[in-house]
Amino acid sequence: MQVFFEIKTLQAYLQNQRQLSKSVGFVPTMGALHQGHLSLIETAKNQNDIVVCSIFVNPTQFNNPHDLAVYPRTLEADCKMLEEANCDIVFAPSATEMYPSLPTLKFDFGTLENVMEGKFRPGHFNGVGIVVSKLFNIVQPNKAYFGQKDLQQCAVINCLVKDLSFSLDLVICPTQREKDGLAMSSRNRNLSEEQRVIAPEIYKSLTASAALLKNQSSTAVKQFIKEYFDVIEDIELEYFEISDFETLLPIEELSVGKTALCIAAFMGKTRLIDNIII
Ligand code: PAF
Repeated sequence: MQVFFEIKTLQAYLQNQRQLSKSVGFVPTMGALHQGHLSLIETAKNQNDIVVCSIFVNPTQFNNPHDLAVYPRTLEADCKMLEEANCDIVFAPSATEMYPSLPTLKFDFGTLENVMEGKFRPGHFNGVGIVVSKLFNIVQPNKAYFGQKDLQQCAVINCLVKDLSFSLDLVICPTQREKDGLAMSSRNRNLSEEQRVIAPEIYKSLTASAALLKNQSSTAVKQFIKEYFDVIEDIELEYFEISDFETLLPIEELSVGKTALCIAAFMGKTRLIDNIII
């Protein structure tokens, strides 16, 4: 496995690989890797000749300075995991390598970014749009891999790829879960032991509301979720939405195969998100 810190050297290497007709799979990450990331690497390995994983904690997508400050940075351990997963290339640029000056470009993803994560994390998807566009331009992959856990991010990146005609296929992979249902996330390592025991309630609330939605209105299901978390002291619900899984617009009734139940909640200062599609 080769590790690159500079855009130019990575590009020169990849250009060479492309001339040898090697297909490139790309897994963008912010590091602090877990099994969820490794499953993306595994899928990418199965579908491409070489796999590039980027590790970059992107400052422009954090609207909360505390979240950026405590975001886990574990490059050495990440590289070890990637090596064991047979990843071919790691791209781990510094902030100044990626942003010699702060970008002035602004993305507007319209209705996609006015709800949920976009509403509660203003500017977040602009930062994601900028860094993912830069990474796509640098790596020029044939396929890029993202996890369904970040459903809204997947929708935004899909829009980015279509609107800017990036010549690549997006591959959205299922959310990986711990045995007790908790969605795998780099942020889980910021949970205390007590919080970790209670955290699976987030997923449990989603599966319970999916069952209820079969014969109850979305208003009733939202009320159910509110009451569900009112009695769990350690979890503070930020939002729960019942949405079309592509447009992310709120929907009133279950439309089978197209309905996303999306949630964000705080456990102390750690913010967790999850979703299921039913
Ligand atoms: O999902 C993430 O880890 C990040 O948002 C991404 C796509 C790597 C962009 O920084």
